[in-house]
Amino acid sequence: MNFADTEVVLGILKAKGYEIAQTLEQANVVLVNTCSIRENAEQRIYGRLGNLKTLKEGKPDMIIGVLGCMAERLRKDLIEEKKMVDLVVGPDEYRRLPEYIDIAFHGDKGIGVRLSKTETYDDIVPYREDGLQAWISVMRGCDKFCTYCVVPFTRGRERSRSLLSIVDEIKVLSARGFREVTLLGQNVNSYSCEGYDFADLMEACAIVDPFVRIRFSTSHPQDLSMKLLQTIARYDNICKYIHLPVQSGSNRILELMNRTYTIEKYYEIIDAARELMPDVSFSTDIIAGFPTETWEDHLETIKVMERVRYDGAYMFKYSPREGTKAYKMPDDVPEGVKGKRLQDIIDLQHSISSELNQKLIGKSEVILVEGESKKSGAFFAGRTDSNKMVIFPRQQNVEAGDYITVTINRGTSATLFGDYTGIVAKRAVNSSDVA
Ligand code: 5AD
Ligand code: SF4
Repeated sequence: MNFADTEVVLGILKAKGYEIAQTLEQANVVLVNTCSIRENAEQRIYGRLGNLKTLKEGKPDMIIGVLGCMAERLRKDLIEEKKMVDLVVGPDEYRRLPEYIDIAFHGDKGIGVRLSKTETYDDIVPYREDGLQAWISVMRGCDKFCTYCVVPFTRGRERSRSLLSIVDEIKVLSARGFREVTLLGQNVNSYSCEGYDFADLMEACAIVDPFVRIRFSTSHPQDLSMKLLQTIARYDNICKYIHLPVQSGSNRILELMNRTYTIEKYYEIIDAARELMPDVSFSTDIIAGFPTETWEDHLETIKVMERVRYDGAYMFKYSPREGTKAYKMPDDVPEGVKGKRLQDIIDLQHSISSELNQKLIGKSEVILVEGESKKSGAFFAGRTDSNKMVIFPRQQNVEAGDYITVTINRGTSATLFGDYTGIVAKRAVNSSDVA
């Protein structure tokens, strides 16, 4: 989400004549786009800002700014108390960023932290380097108010971008040779604009170009409709990969979290998706050690992991966030117990991912080639529809952006290895099609 927002910010600043500096030392303005979701995200930013403050001592005219969720939450601390930054601009005020930078250049503090009910940056052209993968934020904010989560407070109310503007953006990306678009939102399934829902949006995006893969993230189980599952099933270029955060397997904890579904309801969605798409993969988010979580509640979470067998999971220790409902609950699971439960969950996921990858040995998969593998130029890497990385020996005729088939011959929990078997489609770039 922040990656996509940064591209919007770059689009706004480039239109005003700003250029991207090649190094930190060359920059006149340094902007740090921040996240407040868990405490360690904020701690990391404080560390980074400390380093920037030292850099500024040797370069007093440099402007340092904080963008994103921390701006709203910690403006006083950052500007008045710690005097770390010259401007703070929240996620709905980026249009005015050039103004705030001017204010800061004149020696004042640029502060814009109001949240908006309507801002979607619909008409802003995000600045993107050429590449294969793009992220498009299709809705902003969240109205779900899960009790542990700060997002509804830092990013405000839900609002959606128009379907036509999103489709137009994908047309341009397709002509530029992009091969994969991820539609982003805190809760994409509640997308709603001019009578179109998220399934309508996915369909409209899928038909732009059959060689542009469509992904999406994140889904809330309450809003994931049968219509959406049918749409995913119908289009080959919509990836059969659903990130569906469960958070906990215990109905008591889910209720305390205000997740608005029971685990039985969650299973119904998983089962319906698998019936329609036998190869669909799932990933999830899990929180260990929510207030009052018992050993039995923890075992319920383990049970869900064993039943669903996720391809991947993002797993976190509960972290109290000021202003949320859960902040008022006792954070009563001792740190050591939280850590132990988290480790159990991580170990289990590791072995499930490994087992699922072993099962793919001998199978043929279509992958989108992304380029050289990180470890060696003699190997290339690409991703399957289900978002798994496959490494294969470099081939003369294969380039980044091609769709190829590989046969899997080995797998760890994180990576698959395979052999090239053939080209499905070469990448075509035709910028002259761009109006
Ligand atoms: N503590 C721990 N994890 C959290 N998440 C959100 N808020 C918190 C918190 N206070 C996790 C949830 C969410 C993911 C993006 O971050 O699992 O799905
Ligand atoms: Fe946070 Fe819940 Fe909204 Fe996700 S759905 S952003 S966890 S409030």
